[in-house]
Amino acid sequence: MSYLLKFGGNAISGREDMDRLSREIAGLVNEGKSIVLVHGGGPEINAELELRGIKPEKIAGVRITDERTMEVVEEVLSSINRDMVASLREAGVDAAGLAARDITVCVKRGPTEVREEGRIRMVDMGLVGDVVSVDLERIDSMLMAGKVPVIYPVGADRDGNALNVNADTMAAGIAAGMKVDEMIQITDVPGILLDISDPSTKQSVLTLSEVDVLIEKGIISGGMVPKVEACRRALEAGVSRVRMVNGKDKGSIVSEALRGSDHGTLIIR
Ligand SMILES: Nc1ncnc2c1ncn2[C@@H]1O[C@H](COP(=O)(O)OP(=O)(O)OP(=O)(O)O)[C@@H](O)[C@H]1O
Ligand SMILES: [Mg+2]
Repeated sequence: MSYLLKFGGNAISGREDMDRLSREIAGLVNEGKSIVLVHGGGPEINAELELRGIKPEKIAGVRITDERTMEVVEEVLSSINRDMVASLREAGVDAAGLAARDITVCVKRGPTEVREEGRIRMVDMGLVGDVVSVDLERIDSMLMAGKVPVIYPVGADRDGNALNVNADTMAAGIAAGMKVDEMIQITDVPGILLDISDPSTKQSVLTLSEVDVLIEKGIISGGMVPKVEACRRALEAGVSRVRMVNGKDKGSIVSEALRGSDHGTLIIR
């Protein structure tokens, strides 16, 4: 079985969180599972941008990216990547760090339709991309050799121009290309909530059309928008199971969910 795990910067921040996830991944690899890891780093990127006097700007959960922002994104994500690879190696996992540009081809997004408070406007996101193809041979040969690829979502177009891809969008692009058995997004909320301030409103299962209604109503907003769009892409490509879980949960992060217990929110077609 193959699994694509994606974590964000609020869910897994710092070595302690990384080590906890690494120990779980070590267990899964020992059971013979193939794991591909994709990570973001939103809060860390925001902090570094602010240090350099650049105002972080996101629309519908996607970062507007100019050249200076791109430099910071690359620096911060590659540093998180090195830390995660080190953490996995310490847990006995043969991890290999990669930038998405090493294993994907991306394309720059054109002006994007953004719905805000019921209004629709067109926004140029700058150096933001989407995945068009994945080097499956390269990933497969790594998995066959028992490696865990750890990927940060800086891609490039066919001419080698760097593109910032939302980490959930990248996770879905790779999960869809590989047709993994399951994609799990590890985030900082228990799942999709009807009231973001009330964890008891977590939805265990949602269909894509229920998700559409929640987006329309503004209940799903910000970073949750690319997350559910990523779920849609993966499901439509034939990934069987797609869910999000809370990386801050006291128990296991992903192991229990993989064993079928009711964890987080499962998105179905
Ligand atoms: N209905 C909703 N239910 C749960 N979370 C929601 C909802 N609507 C918006 N959100 C927001 O989505 C956020 C998760 O997305 P965010 O992009 O911030 O993190 P991430 O994708 O896990 O990490 P990164 O962006 O670093 O990869 C939550 O922290 C929450 O604030
Ligand atoms: Mg995000």
